[in-house]
Amino acid sequence: NSKRIVVVGSANQDYLVRVSHRPGGGETTIARRLVKQPGGKGANQAVAAARLGGAVHFVGAVGRDDDGASILRSLQKDGASVDDVRIVDGVPTGLALILVDDAGENSITVVSGANETVTADRAAVVVRRLASSGAIVVLQGELPVDVLEETARAASAVGARVILNLAPYREVAADVLAVADPVVLNETETSQLLGERVSGVDAARGALEKVQSNARSVVITLGAQGAVWTVSDRPEGGVGPDDPKPHVAAAETTDVVDTTGAGDAFVGALAFALSVSDDLGRAVELGTRAGTFAIRGVGAQSSYARAADLGLTAGS
Ligand code: RIB
Ligand code: NA
Repeated sequence: NSKRIVVVGSANQDYLVRVSHRPGGGETTIARRLVKQPGGKGANQAVAAARLGGAVHFVGAVGRDDDGASILRSLQKDGASVDDVRIVDGVPTGLALILVDDAGENSITVVSGANETVTADRAAVVVRRLASSGAIVVLQGELPVDVLEETARAASAVGARVILNLAPYREVAADVLAVADPVVLNETETSQLLGERVSGVDAARGALEKVQSNARSVVITLGAQGAVWTVSDRPEGGVGPDDPKPHVAAAETTDVVDTTGAGDAFVGALAFALSVSDDLGRAVELGTRAGTFAIRGVGAQSSYARAADLGLTAGS
């Protein structure tokens, strides 16, 4: 009896280039290998949630090309609906150049391509149709910012729960941040939102309070250190005398192969968990475990967990 999950976001073909270290300015490095696979923060989150058993609809755009076709196949293989993905002529599918070094850390540049053709009007219309009261709507920062804003407003207006992952960081209108439940940020994005450096568990716990004054609930992911989160009991959000109540979910230690898309695995699993129960704490814990699982394998989608990998029984 799970809620529908509507992911409105980007889809890219990822070119994962393995290097011993990521080159600095003016430096040339020789890659060890190249792996091509479907990615994009939106599609990744959709796949992550669908693979765990979520009822996922992906909304976005790809070009009429091989990359677009392989992205759609990957979504469908995990059971996500692609009925509302537009296939656009004359614009290539988005692509991401990703350098991954020996420590598993990455640098990413996205060439938006077809993702840029997603309009606020269309996304809002689709979300109003799909996200009737009770749905979960998931947004990230790789689509044009007006798409994020109008979609969040439309989702909230029909009573959907909005998960707003500001990755990469985008400045959004105050009323948009206010409907986020939760807003999900990593340390860099938190720093960008607050205009001050936030790094490590203690700083992130401190930052929760400041972000909480803007959103209904807040999750700050900390990579190997897990995540912290807080939620206001007041339906209208905002900070009260007992808030914030910071919580910490620790990540298991694991061997890092490739952190690419681990944040998307987190958000997808969080969305899945919130589609079966309103318990944000449990959702953050599942997200943390899904992120940890994902860094053990190369790339994004191909490294994501199935329900059994996280000890979930199908449909729970
Ligand atoms: O978060 C990882 C993703 O960022 C990659 O799959 C790449 O496509 C970029 O969108
Ligand atoms: Na991975």
